[in-house]
Amino acid sequence: MVSSRMNKISKIWNSQAVFITIEGIDGSGKTTQVQKLHERFLAAGKPCIATREPGGTPVGDAIRSMLLNPEVKMNSYTEMFLYAASRAEHVRQVIAPALNKGISVICDRYVDASIAYQGYGLQPEGLTPQLVKMVNEPAVAGWIPDLTIIIDLDVSVAEQRIGQRKAMLQQNKDRIEQRGTPFYERVRQGLRSLYEQEPERYLWVDGNSSTEELTERIWQSITQL
Ligand code: TYD
Repeated sequence: MVSSRMNKISKIWNSQAVFITIEGIDGSGKTTQVQKLHERFLAAGKPCIATREPGGTPVGDAIRSMLLNPEVKMNSYTEMFLYAASRAEHVRQVIAPALNKGISVICDRYVDASIAYQGYGLQPEGLTPQLVKMVNEPAVAGWIPDLTIIIDLDVSVAEQRIGQRKAMLQQNKDRIEQRGTPFYERVRQGLRSLYEQEPERYLWVDGNSSTEELTERIWQSITQL
C-alpha cells in the first residue's frame, strides 16, 4: 500500500510556494544553509527569496542594529518586543507578499528564535516561552512555516566557531553573543523542547555534518513537503 505521504504531490514540485525557516544557536552554520538552499530552489526553477531576522526591511534593519549593538543597554521585555516588531514588519512587507505571489521564502531565523533566545534564554530575567509566543502572535499573523530546520550543535563547538570567525573578521562579539555559555545552553535546550513538542513541524539535524550532507538532508525534507 502506498502511504498517504507518498501519494501526496509535493507542494514544491506542484509549484506551490513553501515557507522554510532555519534555526540554531549562533555558529551552528544556518546562514550557509540558507544560501545553499536558496541556490537549490533557483537551480530547480522554483522562484524563491532568502531573507533574515532581525532585519529584512528598512525598519527591521534599524531595529537589528539596536538589538546587536553591545553599547546599547535594554531590558529583556524591550528586547522581546523589538524582535517581535521587526518580525511584524518583515511578515507584512516581505514574507506574506512573496508567498501570496507564489514565491517560496527561506528565512534565516523566525519566531522560534524568539521563543528560544528570549523565552528560554532570558528565563532568569523573567521572560517565559509562553509570554514570548503570545507577544509574537500578532507579529506572525498566522504565517507559520511549512518546515523549520533546527541545526543542533554543542555550545562549546559553536562558541569556538564564533571566536574564529570574529578573529578573522576582526570584529567584536555582538550584544547577544556576549551572553556566554549558560545562556546558549538554555537556548539550545529551548530549541530541543520546541522540537519535542511538535516534531512534525521541525527537521532536527546534526550541525557536525558536512555542509553538503546538511544541504542534501534538508533539501530532501523540503521536496517531500
Ligand atoms: P543572526 O542574524 O543569526 O546573527 P549573525 O548575523 O551573527 O549570524 O541573529 C542575530 C542575533 O539575534 C542572534 O544572536 C540571535 C538573536 N535573535 C534573538 O535573540 N531573537 C530573535 O527573535 C531573533 C530573530 C534573533
